[in-house]
Amino acid sequence: MEPNGTDLIRLEGVTKVFYTDEVETHALSGIHLEIHKGEYISIAGPSGCGKSTLLSIMGLLDTPTEGKYWLNGTPVEDLDLADRSRIRNREVGFIFQSFNLIGDLNVFENVELPLTYRGMPSGERKERVQKALERVGMSHRVKHYPSQLSGGQQQRVAVARALVGEPAVLLADEPTGNLDSKNGTAVMDLLRELHRAGATIVMVTHDPRFARYAQRTVTLFDGRIVNESFEQLEMGEQPSAIEGA
Ligand SMILES: Nc1ncnc2c1ncn2[C@@H]1O[C@H](COP(=O)(O)OP(=O)(O)OP(=O)(O)O)[C@@H](O)[C@H]1O
Ligand SMILES: [Mg+2]
Repeated sequence: MEPNGTDLIRLEGVTKVFYTDEVETHALSGIHLEIHKGEYISIAGPSGCGKSTLLSIMGLLDTPTEGKYWLNGTPVEDLDLADRSRIRNREVGFIFQSFNLIGDLNVFENVELPLTYRGMPSGERKERVQKALERVGMSHRVKHYPSQLSGGQQQRVAVARALVGEPAVLLADEPTGNLDSKNGTAVMDLLRELHRAGATIVMVTHDPRFARYAQRTVTLFDGRIVNESFEQLEMGEQPSAIEGA
């Protein structure tokens, strides 16, 4: 079946098997999942159930063993390496538990990197980076290096790096896992704000408080989807984002 117009992500029968030292690990088995533009989804489930593997496949960091994946209408299994990297750079923003900022680049340079890879002219890069850092409240720290920032500040810079290229989807793997409660809440509030401004977000979280920020929670167990639940819409929110989901 071809994807319909509003599916940003469509997975059909996606399976992932890791082969190591004659051991087969079935990390994902027969995943069907559709995510619409503007949705905010959380992925839950116990350790080892396949959450990060699923996010890596969605973010084109890894390939399925079997199954089909359309990202923004493009069937990604047919792409060569160069096209995969180009599409990843344009369509996907990643936020990791461990921030993954580059230690010998300062805040500005870290956020600029995805735009540099795109070959964007420096004037436009500068403007975009400044805007992204303003959005996360970090424009006062452009010259700082990651080691000179608190965990919460590093994660806000990582969010700026993820959104600077205006990707189609933000993928966040336990973005608050290394943060204390106050900084965790600040990062989650920021993601919620980005969602309200139109971003599509897929987030892995162990924290039920934060899972409730999402409109839909998909629960995995042993590499399979075992449950999907929907949050009540908040006052003033448009139902269109989850129509037909
Ligand atoms: N590169 C790899 N090689 C072999 N097995 C792997 C690899 N990556 C993941 N796995 C296995 O696949 C399964 C799913 O791993 P995954 O990292 O997706 O789990 P997770 O749900 O993100 O867990 P956690 O909550 O602990 O982060 C696990 O059993 C894991 O051991
Ligand atoms: Mg994980």
